[in-house]
Amino acid sequence: MQLPSLKDIDLSGKKVILRADLDVDEKSESEILRLKCLLPTLQKLADDKAQIVIIGHKGRPDGKVVEELSLKPVADILSRLLEKEISFCPTIKDVNFQNGICLLENLRFDPREEGNDPGFAQELASMGEFYVNDAFASSHRAHASIVGIPKLLPHAAGFQFQKEVKALSAVFENTPRPVLSLIGGIKEDKLEYLEGFKDISDLVIIAGRLPDYLMLKGVEYKDPKIIVSNLNPDKEDITIHSIERIEEEIAKAKTIILAGPIGKYEDEGHRLGTERVLDALANSQARKIAAGGDTGKMLQFFHKESVFSFISTGGGAALEFLVKKTLPGIEALLN
Ligand code: 3PG
Repeated sequence: MQLPSLKDIDLSGKKVILRADLDVDEKSESEILRLKCLLPTLQKLADDKAQIVIIGHKGRPDGKVVEELSLKPVADILSRLLEKEISFCPTIKDVNFQNGICLLENLRFDPREEGNDPGFAQELASMGEFYVNDAFASSHRAHASIVGIPKLLPHAAGFQFQKEVKALSAVFENTPRPVLSLIGGIKEDKLEYLEGFKDISDLVIIAGRLPDYLMLKGVEYKDPKIIVSNLNPDKEDITIHSIERIEEEIAKAKTIILAGPIGKYEDEGHRLGTERVLDALANSQARKIAAGGDTGKMLQFFHKESVFSFISTGGGAALEFLVKKTLPGIEALLN
């Protein structure tokens, strides 16, 4: 896949719109890692003396202004990380390049972002002359800032975006088999990708809170390629029997994809599943990748980042890319 790259483009003095992954909990040091991933792209744009407006979203405010989801604190953190002043602009009208870099308020405060409204894309595009997408983790969303702006401006993929596409594409090059996918966490949206994961894996094991969502929906899998873990009565961790089953499968697998925590590891009493599965992964010689902001946070908590050859910043985006080999945001950059 030949994405237009930032590398060879000189953006000196140009007004550049940078779509970034800003959906972080600024109080958590591990989440700030997502912001650190933006630095190579930001540095290149700053070195080119481009005038940069950073855009992105935080949370799911449903088209309304939700004070706690403001991006103002994110502007302050980015400013500290980059060691450059970044001005915060509450609205498009406030955008100015006095400091060279500014950051616009949460795009999802406007319902037209998620509605992929062409008028909103036009308003956003009018802020700049060039568009860079470095928001891989949001590029499974066909929203105005992801697919609308690149229709209107020359564009390129940022460095983290390219790294993600390269690393995740490599998972399926000469793949050692069997492939085991371990899908956990609390985001119910992940269930949408189960069928696709069945096609790319020899075995899919579902853990975290997902078995409960399946039960509530009355979904039962008879397929031998899908194992749904059993949950303890409080539903916060998987049973010992399920832990042992996962350990056995990890020992057999040659490629492993981990997407999401196994249980509510943040509470000591519900940590066993996640702890033992991570230990088993650490002892496995398989090719291993991990995906998602919550997964990254969990790996940092247990100091297990080095167990994986790649940790994607994308949760849903990484799952969709692994299954479909493309994303709406990739298609928009290719056209
Ligand atoms: C993420 O954190 O995975 C991205 O920001 C996407 O968020 P969304 O699932 O609310 O679109």
